[in-house]
Amino acid sequence: MELKKNKILVTGGLGFIGSHTVVELQQEGYEVIIIDDLSNTRIEVLEGITEITGIRPEYVQLDLKEKEAVVRFFKDNTIDGVIHFAASKAVGESVEDPLKYYENNISTLVYLLKSMIENNVPHLIFSSSCTVYGQADELPITENAPVKRAESPYGNTKQMGEEIIEDATKVEAISAIALRYFNPIGSHESALIGELPIGVPQNLIPFVTQSAAGLRGELSVFGDDYPTPDGTAVRDYIHVVDLAKAHICALQRLLKKDNKSKMEYFNVGTGTGSSVLDVVNAFQKVNQTALQYKIVDRREGDITAAYADTTLANQELGWKAELGLDEALSSAWKWQLKQQ
Ligand code: WQD
Repeated sequence: MELKKNKILVTGGLGFIGSHTVVELQQEGYEVIIIDDLSNTRIEVLEGITEITGIRPEYVQLDLKEKEAVVRFFKDNTIDGVIHFAASKAVGESVEDPLKYYENNISTLVYLLKSMIENNVPHLIFSSSCTVYGQADELPITENAPVKRAESPYGNTKQMGEEIIEDATKVEAISAIALRYFNPIGSHESALIGELPIGVPQNLIPFVTQSAAGLRGELSVFGDDYPTPDGTAVRDYIHVVDLAKAHICALQRLLKKDNKSKMEYFNVGTGTGSSVLDVVNAFQKVNQTALQYKIVDRREGDITAAYADTTLANQELGWKAELGLDEALSSAWKWQLKQQ
């Protein structure tokens, strides 16, 4: 008798992290249905996923702001769990247009939760971020580090999202895990899916690869006067495939009811900090490609350093990052070259 495959809804499943997670879900034998409004990605990502796994995921183009459509979706589909990526994620844009972020990231989360509860969907994995810690007082950062007042509406939507879900789990038949991502980078080894920033990349790695490919001018390094070994800011850059696998471990924890409380939080990083210049040098070395850059002023709102204490995820999720910075930068470059 074939075991019933769990059917998992992945919102934002055509996005950068979402698409990599769909690949891992399918390869683990899950049935996947994707909701994506295509506001920040391209439909071609669906072909990329299908080419990698040989399985075309079900896909519904749907804007989670359309409450009736969300209600109808859950009436039409029997779902065993939800991985919720769909959200706006540009820090700078959130400062200029906060209400877009509160509408798109918060009201949709409430509709999603209400529909899950009304249709007895018991498990949720939430895409959160290390940005909730702001500049942590101690490094590496553990899950017990205090959540600090967000530096941006984007960061605030992650903090509020965690609180909304936690409050819901206290009174509803739903259990949840928030994964606090550090800095996701890189692409699937096939170079069939990857990061697709629209417009001028705000994040470091897509700007690096586009600059190296001659699509942008030289890289601006935002400040070299931080109290760090080389003066440039330090982050924990995690390969997106490792990050995707963490979602599978978290989902399995909930499906097997191994969770120790109805709401759990895990940092998902490598545990290693790399400075901007570390990244610049590693990129040039591993890809044998020159990268022009100039040092400019700090970017408003940036923190000095963040990297994860991954003990809890290692012990409780049985997950550990396996790919390093070089592999991530090599895969990011391979993906960029495929875009030409
Ligand atoms: C990394 C480092 C910059 C661009 C943000 C969000 C986080 C997550 C990832 C969404 C910093 C420096 C960058 C450039 C540079 N959000 N930099 N020149 O700011 O750590 O995190 O993106 O997915 O929640 O907060 O990531 O890639 O923007 O910057 O020098 O052109 O690179 O100053 O030190 P960040 P980032």
